[in-house]
Amino acid sequence: MIAETRTLLNPVQIGDMTIDPPLSLAPMAGQTNHAFRRLCREIGGVGLVCTELLSSVPLQFKGGLKTSLQYFDWRPEERPFAVQLFGSDPSVMAEASRIVVDHGAAIVDINMGCWVPKVVKKGGGAALLRDVCSATAVVEACVKAVDVPVTVKVRAGFDDGVITAVPFAKAAQDVGAQMIAVHARFASQGFTGSADWDVIRQVKEAVTTLPVFGNGDVTCADDARRMLEQTGCDGVMIGRAALGNPWIFKQIHHELTTGTPFPAPTVQERAQTCLYQARLTLETTRMASVKAIRELRGQLCKYTAGMPDATTIRDGIVRAESLEDIERALAPVLSAE
Ligand SMILES: Cc1cc2nc3c(=O)[nH]c(=O)nc-3n(C[C@H](O)[C@H](O)[C@H](O)COP(=O)(O)O)c2cc1C
Repeated sequence: MIAETRTLLNPVQIGDMTIDPPLSLAPMAGQTNHAFRRLCREIGGVGLVCTELLSSVPLQFKGGLKTSLQYFDWRPEERPFAVQLFGSDPSVMAEASRIVVDHGAAIVDINMGCWVPKVVKKGGGAALLRDVCSATAVVEACVKAVDVPVTVKVRAGFDDGVITAVPFAKAAQDVGAQMIAVHARFASQGFTGSADWDVIRQVKEAVTTLPVFGNGDVTCADDARRMLEQTGCDGVMIGRAALGNPWIFKQIHHELTTGTPFPAPTVQERAQTCLYQARLTLETTRMASVKAIRELRGQLCKYTAGMPDATTIRDGIVRAESLEDIERALAPVLSAE
């Protein structure tokens, strides 16, 4: 049992960066673009953000690098931020790490959690967890290649019930990884079932110096508190619950440091933030604006929960092709007193 007097949110050191508070936005492909990461930072409470996964292979070629950089438009104001890479070949991953660091990455994060067949078939993502030695070789190659911290995001293991995160975490610590985030589901589960936080506890108990961020099914301050208390993890990583609710980090930080409830944003604030996210996306994306708006629709709809006549507003958002369409859909709430 973790001592009750333990302060729950202590700053975490990753290389020369202090992650304070130790709350991080999980990488989510198609969701956590620059605009959303920046929005979370502007609202506050998030200590670390990460790009979505980036394939190590195309980065090695001029054309591929150009395309990748169009999608992964990280910017200095996000610091400290991690750029997440996936791949299975240690030398390719090492070269990809050098390239993203040359382009400004403050941390290189290695994806060992992705379970989609396209990634797993080539031995990347969670497939690396089938063999602790190969997974460790990838980490070691990246650590040797760059002078910024290398972190890893893993699942509990690849096959149901076979926990490889524990031996791997020890090995990763030995070869110089500087943080491990554990999504407490097996790759075979996808997103089904619930996260088994006990795996996070086991990883934390197995390592000595490696900071551990727990991940999986944290949706509010109370969940974060329970995860920290039950597992002893150093930080909490939040994914899906931040979509349409970028206040979650501030809420967790506020409630865990003051013990008082965080005032929920009003429907007007949510509508304004929804519109702001759309505007920021259009200002910062390198995609064509119609494509960017189409990609964003699902996420923007999440802001509408609890709004009066939310169905009509959502209807407008799912058809939107421009910022003006989003503004029109939200108008009844934006103009309400
Ligand atoms: C739409 C979506 C995209 C994701 N993309 C990535 C990714 O690019 N890299 C990664 O490591 N995990 C990815 N994940 C997994 C999340 O980072 C996180 O581990 C998972 O959602 C569990 O955390 P949560 O319960 O807080 O959402 C993705 C998850 C979702 C829902």
